[in-house]
Amino acid sequence: MQLTITQPDDWHLHLRDDDALAAVVAHSAERFARAIVMPNLQPPVTTTEMAAAYRLRILSALPTNTGFDPLMTLYMTDRLSSEEVIRAKQSGIVKGIKLYPAGATTNSDAGVTDIQKLYPVLETMQSESLPLLIHAEVTDSSVDIFDRERIFIDRYLVELSRTFPELPMVFEHVTTKDAVDFVKENPGRMAATITPQHLMYNRNAMLAGGIRPHYFCLPILKRGSHQQALIEAATSGDPRFFLGTDSAPHPQHAKECGCGCAGCYTANSAIELYAEIFDQAGALNKLEGFSSFFGADFYNLPRNTNTITLEKRSWIVPESYPFGNDRVVPLMAGHELQWQLIS
Ligand code: NCD
Ligand code: ZN
Repeated sequence: MQLTITQPDDWHLHLRDDDALAAVVAHSAERFARAIVMPNLQPPVTTTEMAAAYRLRILSALPTNTGFDPLMTLYMTDRLSSEEVIRAKQSGIVKGIKLYPAGATTNSDAGVTDIQKLYPVLETMQSESLPLLIHAEVTDSSVDIFDRERIFIDRYLVELSRTFPELPMVFEHVTTKDAVDFVKENPGRMAATITPQHLMYNRNAMLAGGIRPHYFCLPILKRGSHQQALIEAATSGDPRFFLGTDSAPHPQHAKECGCGCAGCYTANSAIELYAEIFDQAGALNKLEGFSSFFGADFYNLPRNTNTITLEKRSWIVPESYPFGNDRVVPLMAGHELQWQLIS
C-alpha cells in the first residue's frame, strides 16, 4: 500500500549547530519542506541578527538540491525588547519567539523568570502578529514532574490567553488531556504541536521493566489516558493540532549515563512514525491535514505544493547514526517500523 500526501513541515525542531547540525539536518530535509527551528543553542539565539547567522549556517550544512527552508525563532529572555520584536517581524525570517520558563529543559537557563514583566513585549508581538511558542511547564521544583504542564495552564496560560486574545500562541508538545482540552476550549488564536513519542508511548515505555533513557524527553511521557487524548486530538482533523516532532538529538553518552539528558531523536523517521500512529488509529486520511496543512495555515504561510510518497513495507530503524565524534540513538532504534518514505 502507498500513500501520497502534500509534503509536510515540522513545526518544532532542534537542529543544534556545527558538527551536530551537519549530522542531522539532512534527515529533516529529506522529509520536510520547512521547519520551525528552536533557538536553544549555547548561547541561545536571542536576536534577529543571531537568527539570520544561524539560518545561513543551516543552509550551508544542507545537502545540495534541497529546497528545505528553515524558519527561525528567537529565544525569549527577560531582556527581550519591543524593538527586537519589530526587527524580528520585519526580517521575514523569524516566525516566532520561544518562551522557555527558566530551567524548564535542556539549555533553558537563560529563559524567562517572570512572564508578567514581558507583557509590554507580548503586546507588541500581538500587534505584529508574531507567534509566541510556549514550553508550558512550571519549573518550581516542589511541583511533581508529571503535573508541571497542567499547573502551567492554571498559573499562566489562562491569564495569558485572556490578556492577549489576538496573539497567535503555540502550546508546544502537548502531553496531557488537560492541555488538549485547554486548546480546544480556548477562544483565542491558540494551536498545539504534538510529537511522535507522546502519541506512540506512555510512561510505561520509559520506566516499566527498567529505565530506558531514550524515551526521556521534556515534557515527560505521561500515563496512557493522556496518550489516548493526544491520539484523538491529532487524528480528529481539528486544525488547532499539528505536527511538531521536537526531534532533539543528543550524543549517546549524554543519554546513556547516570543523569541522562532530555530529548528524543526522531528526525530520521519522523513522518514514518506519524504514519504508523495514524494507521493504527484508522485515521490515515487525517495525516495530511495534521502534517501538511494546519501548521502552514496557522503560521499564515502557503501550503506546500509538492508531494511525498510513503509505502507500507516494514524496515528496521538503525541502532544509531553518526553525530560529530559521537553517535545519536534514534527513537525505536533496532525496532520495526511499518511505513517507509520512498520519495
Ligand atoms: C529539548 C532539547 O534537547 O533541546 N529536549 C526535550 O526533551 N524536548 C528541549 C526542549 O524542547 O524542551
Ligand atoms: Zn523542543
